[in-house]
Amino acid sequence: MTEKTLIYHEGIVPYPRTELVERVQMRLDDARFQHCLRVEQTAIRLAEQNGGDVEKASIAGMCHDYAKQRTADEFKAVILQQHMNPELLEYGNGIWHGVVGAYFVEKELDIHDQEILNAIRRHTIAAPEMTLLDKIVFVADFIEPKRDFPGVEDARKAADRDIDDGVRYELVHTLEYLIQTHSKVYPGTLTSYNAWVPQKKGAQ
Ligand SMILES: [Fe+2]
Ligand SMILES: [Fe+2]
Repeated sequence: MTEKTLIYHEGIVPYPRTELVERVQMRLDDARFQHCLRVEQTAIRLAEQNGGDVEKASIAGMCHDYAKQRTADEFKAVILQQHMNPELLEYGNGIWHGVVGAYFVEKELDIHDQEILNAIRRHTIAAPEMTLLDKIVFVADFIEPKRDFPGVEDARKAADRDIDDGVRYELVHTLEYLIQTHSKVYPGTLTSYNAWVPQKKGAQ
């Protein structure tokens, strides 16, 4: 993939992209940071393919895992202080770093664009109704070039054919994984699955 280094001009981030990269890097180990760069690039490509906002795709892709390495105590404190759904307390980092992580992006990175914050929130559980940016970040996270799981090539093909097919593929894969590992399924994840998958059985 040819790397695209954007110059931001939409005024969404109140400082240059290079500073955003540094701020994200400071909060993540190198493996996670490199993943964020690859998700950014994949999100830019998906935005170009689907007529999406490339700058927003870059920002949301770069920041989607910004809060991934916060402690459980930090997430729980935000859930309580911000009066988020208390049901969240019964889950863990896999859900929190998106749903709650957007809070850290807004407060610490000074990014207030609701479309970007929603895409970050929704990247861990999807949503019954998703914007193009939500879909781009959700799918880019799943198919970035270093992802290597059985079916990833099918997921990439589905996403290239139709981004909605990419979302469906990912939701099926996620539910299968949660069930196989006897994990607790966050109700929002199940709601997303029910909204996207059953009526589209032929989509994969
Ligand atoms: Fe994530
Ligand atoms: Fe990620």
